[in-house]
Amino acid sequence: QYVSDFAWSSATSAYQIEGGWNADGKGESIWDNFTHAGRSHNNETGDDACLSYYKYKDDVQLLRNLSVGYYRFSLSWPRIIPTGEINDGINQPGVDYYNNLIDELLANNIQPMVTLYHWDLPQALQDKYEGWLDQSGIIVKAFADYTDFCFKTYGDRVKFWITFNEPFITAQLGYGVAAFAPGHYSPGEGVYYAAHSIIKSHAQAYHIYNNTYRESQKGQIGITLNSNWADPMTRTDLEHVEASQRNLAFATGWFADPIFGTGDYPDIMRYNVSTFYLFPKLSKAEKLLNKGTSDFFGLNHYTSHLWLSSASTWLYQVPWGIRKLLIWIKRTYGDPVIYITENGISEHFSDGLDDDIRVNYYKNYINEVLKAIKEDDVNVKGYTAWSLMDNFEWAEGYSERFGLHWVNFTDPERTRIPKKSASYYRSLAGNHEFKS
Ligand code: NOJ
Repeated sequence: QYVSDFAWSSATSAYQIEGGWNADGKGESIWDNFTHAGRSHNNETGDDACLSYYKYKDDVQLLRNLSVGYYRFSLSWPRIIPTGEINDGINQPGVDYYNNLIDELLANNIQPMVTLYHWDLPQALQDKYEGWLDQSGIIVKAFADYTDFCFKTYGDRVKFWITFNEPFITAQLGYGVAAFAPGHYSPGEGVYYAAHSIIKSHAQAYHIYNNTYRESQKGQIGITLNSNWADPMTRTDLEHVEASQRNLAFATGWFADPIFGTGDYPDIMRYNVSTFYLFPKLSKAEKLLNKGTSDFFGLNHYTSHLWLSSASTWLYQVPWGIRKLLIWIKRTYGDPVIYITENGISEHFSDGLDDDIRVNYYKNYINEVLKAIKEDDVNVKGYTAWSLMDNFEWAEGYSERFGLHWVNFTDPERTRIPKKSASYYRSLAGNHEFKS
């Protein structure tokens, strides 16, 4: 039995791999600023990372060797527009870098899946307007201009757009507990207002694409949300079942309800949060603008709240969790098309090419995805392995490796070597179909 037209993919993001942090006129991002202040593990930075700004052709060969039909990568906003505001000017070498990468991918028969925002906000927007905390509309407008420029410049060749990667993390870690850039500590209101302007920005970008580019470019556009499965301790006790539902509403529904559901935040969230904090309101018009603004549900899934541990302290292996989550998304949001835009596992400091832990993780998780498709009729159209290669794991620096390829970070060439998991993944993706 086969599921044909299945999109096998692998992913990276700009700050985690590119390096060239100030090369050829690139502007500073909040991650440059954050890491230069010594706020990631061991004072590590993405200044050089995997040097993909210089070695993108090598990366495309790695993808070819994996036999994947898609590559998910992100555009660095400050590499394209150094201050974040288009009227200040664009950076042509940065624009060309992505033109070259896209052309190289297509010449190798690999379709680009492009994330517009994978956490590297131009620092100038943070300094001038407080970044995503801005409620005046300036940040929404800046993002709209940036995305419009990207659709216009790259949309003849890019047919798959993701507006935001894991907005939950930006809001909670970036503007709540300050563990991620921009390191703004505001665990109360801040979190909800950051999310609020991200949702508006997403909706705006969707409508720009929909109204101006969709007809001629014929692509799709959506958003990627992170979601863990929350399994109730017992199914017979209502209290536990409700706790698990509350967790899913707060973590996933926060963004999914406005975009894939009612257009508004989950009631249970508004009710609970507004007891303690100001909770932003969406007007009737805004709800209408949000609703239905994603052609697919982009899902990043790593873990459930139980089981076998891995290097990441937050990452436990629970393969069946992904199946339950996929069923939950199908039921809660009206059977959307789902692309799994990230799934994977890390190791600590390991130099190992024999990454059996990763081979097993992929085998078990992908098997559960297949069950969700075949037995539960969930509309999953693609699967993406995080990550193509070891890279800069944000606050964890280089101490955690997620790659299918091992990268030598002490070698000035940043040599990439396939791990066992790369050949395993190739054996799946190489079929170009999903075999059961
Ligand atoms: C999600 C993020 O999108 C990605 O940037 C990160 O490296 C992985 N999870 C692993 O933590």
